[in-house]
Amino acid sequence: MADNDFQHRLDALRHTLDQWAFEYFVLDQPTATDAEYDARMNELRAIEAEHPELVTAESPTQRVGSFQQSDFSEVVHPRPLLSLSNVYSREELDAWAARAERLSGSSALAFVTEPKIDGLAVALTYVNGRFNHGATRGNGMVGDDISANIRAIRSIPVNLRAPQSFPMPETIEIRGEIYIRKSDFERLNSGIADAGGKLFMNSRNAAAGSIRQKDTAITAQRPLRLFAYQIGYTIGTGLPPTHFDTLGWLRELGFTTSLDAARHTSLDDVWRACETWLELRPTLDFEIDGTVIKVDSLQLQEEIGFVAREPRWATAYKFPAIQQTTKVLDIIINVGRTGTLNPLALLEPVNIGGVTVKRATLHNEDEIARKDIRIGDTVIVQRAGDVIPQIVKVIEERRTGNQQPYAMPDACPSCGTPVHRDEDVAMRYCTNAACPAQLKERIHHFIGRPAMDIDGLGAKLADRFIDLGWIVDVASIYQLDWAKVSELEGMGETSAANLARAVEKSKSQPLWRLIHGLGIRHVGERTATLVADRFGSLDALMGASAAEIEAIPGIGGILAASLHDFAQEEPNRQLVERLKAAGVRTADERSASDTARHLDGVTLVLTGRFDALTRPEAEERLRRAGANVTSSVSKKTTALIAGADAGSKVDKALALKVPVLEEADLMTMLDGRVPDALSTEVAITIESGAAADS
Ligand code: IVH
Repeated sequence: MADNDFQHRLDALRHTLDQWAFEYFVLDQPTATDAEYDARMNELRAIEAEHPELVTAESPTQRVGSFQQSDFSEVVHPRPLLSLSNVYSREELDAWAARAERLSGSSALAFVTEPKIDGLAVALTYVNGRFNHGATRGNGMVGDDISANIRAIRSIPVNLRAPQSFPMPETIEIRGEIYIRKSDFERLNSGIADAGGKLFMNSRNAAAGSIRQKDTAITAQRPLRLFAYQIGYTIGTGLPPTHFDTLGWLRELGFTTSLDAARHTSLDDVWRACETWLELRPTLDFEIDGTVIKVDSLQLQEEIGFVAREPRWATAYKFPAIQQTTKVLDIIINVGRTGTLNPLALLEPVNIGGVTVKRATLHNEDEIARKDIRIGDTVIVQRAGDVIPQIVKVIEERRTGNQQPYAMPDACPSCGTPVHRDEDVAMRYCTNAACPAQLKERIHHFIGRPAMDIDGLGAKLADRFIDLGWIVDVASIYQLDWAKVSELEGMGETSAANLARAVEKSKSQPLWRLIHGLGIRHVGERTATLVADRFGSLDALMGASAAEIEAIPGIGGILAASLHDFAQEEPNRQLVERLKAAGVRTADERSASDTARHLDGVTLVLTGRFDALTRPEAEERLRRAGANVTSSVSKKTTALIAGADAGSKVDKALALKVPVLEEADLMTMLDGRVPDALSTEVAITIESGAAADS
């Protein structure tokens, strides 16, 4: 064959294989047998082996190859991935709908219902119809780059199908839920059992484990599927007017959506759909944990807006938690990192919805008294999704008289210090700052994945170092004597060297991870990110007044007081100094190459409406990237970003020769880049800003 003919044959084979995969995975109506599929695939492989120069990243053969990834890099989501509020009853649904109507100014809202798939959320970006990159939800702002694994999943298109009813967007981000069918999950687990491997607890864990696989060949063998349910944003074309139309668009592009999504104009109908899904739940081949209810009109969605990380235009009717009966074997105390004595019930192991439950939280002593939980009691336990199991109630009829009431200890079970009781919150605290149990919890939190993420230093090993007195606070992790570590039983030089490297690497973690890792009361990932973005360094944060901290949008009085109190305490100040002395990075670099702060020194004004996100959202994200966002155009404005229906600000900008940018430039900025139209301006502003400082 001539080269040209090879190319034609390749194109035809690739097209056919993609079509068959689409029919098989998306339509669930295969038109070819497995044998036919394999035969074409083998032919394609043979041609590509002869002509490696003709291999492309999109070729079906590339989806099953093996690619070892060492670590997943982080992807900043241009628009955060939100979570959903929950309603548990018709009354709560009505209250939610009433608020949505009030906020939208419309008294006749249309809603869409669809099943809430119990998998994990991903965001897939396609540029000019080709898969570009994919990310996990992560903390909603930043996720892991799982592009290679996404390519390995045959049920997800690498090339979008040409849509009929709208133009192909230049860039489109598709959001959906990755999951494994119940039947596929059974097969997967029995295969693993045959091979003597470790079984997955449930299909959700199997999906999560498979998508975060470091070996793409393993991901390729896992029966992962995707339900698409949202368009994150588009560039180059608008969005459809409604969510219901969005689902149609997604299908045209080649994705599976929930076919039974339905549009309703009355709440009675919405509620009926919620109940129907609950009824259908056991008959479906995929796990669902609720019904999602969304306001249909995208324009009204925007008007209704969101609060914190939850949209107010959508909610989930959460199915009642799955419950089981079991026995309380014992009640033990776990000392938390702030010194709280947390009672835990040890249970006779029981399987709830595919997960073996062995312990349940008891919250505090008042809770134990209120529910009158005694050791030896038969109880009803419930597990709702990922949440820690809880004891719903004691079955008193099963009492034999041998049950033992529980008394909280008066001394810390770890260090023996007499406990302090806080009457208001019914909590007992160990006030010993040097309590080993507290220290262990603090260290576990610091090294954990949501904080400094020190790979290789697990809780067990950290505990060993603590017991040896080598780790006395988070700073001493950076002063470990690696020669001594290598002499420990079971360590050796290679392990010690690997560990040393991992610890060293964590020194340059972004500031928010360090702030989160310090374990300041009430400060989670989201607050840590906001504070790190605002102050840029630990020194600036430690020197800030409570009022300055509270001025950050999204941070209230309690959080501000907690951060400020932390900064005022001398031992904490010393700890920060020791971290710095050990070489831990306590300030985010604000260079042009640092994508998180690539807009430092830039002053922007936004006007008009944007398709992909609301103005407050855009403003917040621009600020997080370092920009100063103001409300009126002046000579100091670096650029005006004008959306649809922009008004007089554009005239003013033109008069002052301030560049006027459009939505595409905004998205470029939120992607961590500087648009061409602005690159010279930014360089100039940053330079003059730096000059003014010195
Ligand atoms: S909509 C802002 N639709 O539920 C809207 N989410 O608790 C949020 N989920 O992170 C997403 N099925 O992972 C939406 N049909 C569905 C869904 C769904 C499952 C998950 C998703 C999201 C979580 C929110």
